[in-house]
Amino acid sequence: MVISIDSPLDMHLHLRDEEMLDIVAPLSAETFSGGLVMPNLVPPVTSKEDVRSYRERIRKAQGEHRFIPYMTLFFKSDYSPEFLESVREEILAIKLYPAGITTNSEGGVSGFDLEELSPVLGVMSDLGIPLCVHGETGGFVMDREAEFIPIYEMLARHFPDLKIVMEHITTKAAVEALDRYENLYATITLHHLYITLDDVAGGLLQPHLFCKPIAKRPEDREALLKTALAAHPKVMFGSDSAPHPRDKKEAPGCAAGVFTAPIALQGLAQLFDRHGALDNLQAFVSDNARRIYGITPIEKTVILEKTPWLVPEIYEGTVVPMFAGQSLEWRVLSAE
Ligand code: NCD
Ligand code: ZN
Repeated sequence: MVISIDSPLDMHLHLRDEEMLDIVAPLSAETFSGGLVMPNLVPPVTSKEDVRSYRERIRKAQGEHRFIPYMTLFFKSDYSPEFLESVREEILAIKLYPAGITTNSEGGVSGFDLEELSPVLGVMSDLGIPLCVHGETGGFVMDREAEFIPIYEMLARHFPDLKIVMEHITTKAAVEALDRYENLYATITLHHLYITLDDVAGGLLQPHLFCKPIAKRPEDREALLKTALAAHPKVMFGSDSAPHPRDKKEAPGCAAGVFTAPIALQGLAQLFDRHGALDNLQAFVSDNARRIYGITPIEKTVILEKTPWLVPEIYEGTVVPMFAGQSLEWRVLSAE
């Protein structure tokens, strides 16, 4: 059996910089038509020059593959209206991180004081720049996302014209919030559709499945699955593929992030096939994002075939993917 996906999009992607960028950019660019590139470099992407030069570095690293890096800016509450207006054409969204909540988020927002955030959010709303949010509080690790939902709701209420994307949702609570506000959207990763906390820490600790937000309970995963498999119109695929060198994962103080870029489409095909939902994969992995973000991606037809495919143990001796060394039921036959 073969299926064809038209211009798949990864709406939450970490491509990093330097050697890691050179390794991972071609892997996304090979099978995806475009991706929303996260700005949490060190230091983060906060100026027009940063956006432009990072885009150039990505383009160089992606090689001959046709792929659009949709750029983002790291949210700062002191951006001026003039700056936002001038950077509008260079970016697709602005990504807001609570300070210190995840990898390279130290310069993020503390406290969620509406008075402090309002000037920038108001301008973003006027200019039609979507806000992507890493929605976790500093609370108990399993409760962080659910505790953040009132903040999403407060933002959605105060800025009804601002598109707010709840990034990498992991809970039933977040799925439910989606339908309460017209301007709330969400991305869902591959790994959160497959795993719960049990897979991370229920047996021997699995560092390559450790990420933020941490995988949650079976009922949360069920809610995510139901939403993704139905290709809920406000939900998009965002891998949150977050590569770290092997020695930073297989170490005390394991870095957070699951590397899924090269296995994402195969893993999605397997999942949607197992649940008899292949007909909805196109919407989940492309059409919803096109509509929500108003983008027209590069045309790329990806043919997937239902044939066992052995996932590499490691890429370039550096970065270990999800499902390393395991067999998936689908492989990419061609992407043109
Ligand atoms: C991401 C990273 O490594 O940049 N890590 C992760 O666990 N997902 C950051 C993020 O998206 O939280
Ligand atoms: Zn991320």
